[in-house]
Amino acid sequence: MTHLDALMMRRALDLARLGTGYARPNPLVGCVVAHQGRIIGEGWHRQYGGPHAEVNALAAVADPDLLPASRVYVTLEPCSHHGKTPPCADLLIEQGVRDVVVCNLDPNPLVAGRGIEKLRAAGIQVQTGLLEAEGRWLNRRFFTFQEKKRPYIVLKWAETADGFLVGPYFQPVPISGELAKVAVHKWRAEEQAILVGTRTALHDNPRLDAREWPGPSPLRLVIDKNLSLPPSHHLFDGQHPTLVYTYRSRPARGSLEFVQLSENDDLFPQLLDDLQQRQVQSVLVEGGPTVLNSLVRAGLWDEARILRSPKLLEAGVPGPRLGLLNLHEHLTLGPDELFVYLNRTPA
Ligand SMILES: NC(=O)c1ccc[n+]([C@@H]2O[C@H](COP(=O)([O-])OP(=O)(O)OC[C@H]3O[C@@H](n4cnc5c(N)ncnc54)[C@H](OP(=O)(O)O)[C@@H]3O)[C@@H](O)[C@H]2O)c1
Ligand SMILES: [Zn+2]
Repeated sequence: MTHLDALMMRRALDLARLGTGYARPNPLVGCVVAHQGRIIGEGWHRQYGGPHAEVNALAAVADPDLLPASRVYVTLEPCSHHGKTPPCADLLIEQGVRDVVVCNLDPNPLVAGRGIEKLRAAGIQVQTGLLEAEGRWLNRRFFTFQEKKRPYIVLKWAETADGFLVGPYFQPVPISGELAKVAVHKWRAEEQAILVGTRTALHDNPRLDAREWPGPSPLRLVIDKNLSLPPSHHLFDGQHPTLVYTYRSRPARGSLEFVQLSENDDLFPQLLDDLQQRQVQSVLVEGGPTVLNSLVRAGLWDEARILRSPKLLEAGVPGPRLGLLNLHEHLTLGPDELFVYLNRTPA
């Protein structure tokens, strides 16, 4: 495949990204139709339940007579089964497409390869695996959910230059600055759910919404084993769907739901199983240190985003030790630095 093919697939991946927050639990998919090196149609999966990327891209082609001489780039194997919409493989065949390039295969073992087979059986030339690693990264939440049967877990914390997340007496101290706050709200809009521990909910009284960023607010999750949190706290304001993980039983109230866990089993496997059943593909964990440490000890994390501030606390609670570090990204956000680490051996 040529440099031009890679450019076209990169464009399709960029389009796919525009569905972030709206396509789930479907994957992010983009599609580009190119004729003699020129894009004549493009589209992406905008919304769960709405048309797939291929449908939108083909609909955007002004002159369908060009399709037999065009190359179609799609970031995920075209579907071959009747879901909420008819199969895209059939559409490509009907429209006379002869040449398809695919980035990733469908991870679902029941459908993997079937879309490709269907296209090839109709005489279409199909090439796969172009920019495969980029595609897997883009859809890391979807792939993790499908392959590990648990949501993709993003840990986030802010620490001082001397490594503390909390001061000695648990008094809330703002550690990171304004720009970091906007970044965190962007992350909240990108993940499907957001989790905090009981003491963070109690001391910080967070809203856990994405008000500083245009995008959907996540499903709010809080651990409250004995239902000890004050009902007047923001998490119970009914503004966004909220799940309370508890050992007690309590009926739901509007968008507030209580999920009863067993005291005899570990908490996080039960919590993650519940999220898997609810089709929650990703969770942003915003602390506190006890929750973060438990997940790190269990190897239950995929990405850790650490905001390092120039402030000093001199004493307090330090952050988790991540062990062997794989630095993925390093940025400056105003006075703070952001370090993103990836877990190479996730559970
Ligand atoms: N700098 C930052 O980025 C940051 C972020 C968030 C919070 N904070 C600060 O952190 C402080 C609170 O932190 P914290 O560590 O004391 O509390 P926390 O992590 O917010 O809450 C402790 C939670 O851990 C649960 N838990 C954790 N692992 C568990 C496991 N394996 N099994 C069962 N339960 C488990 C606890 O339940 P039980 O305790 O009920 O058993 C409880 O819900 C607050 O003052 C807040 O300001 C700082
Ligand atoms: Zn489709």
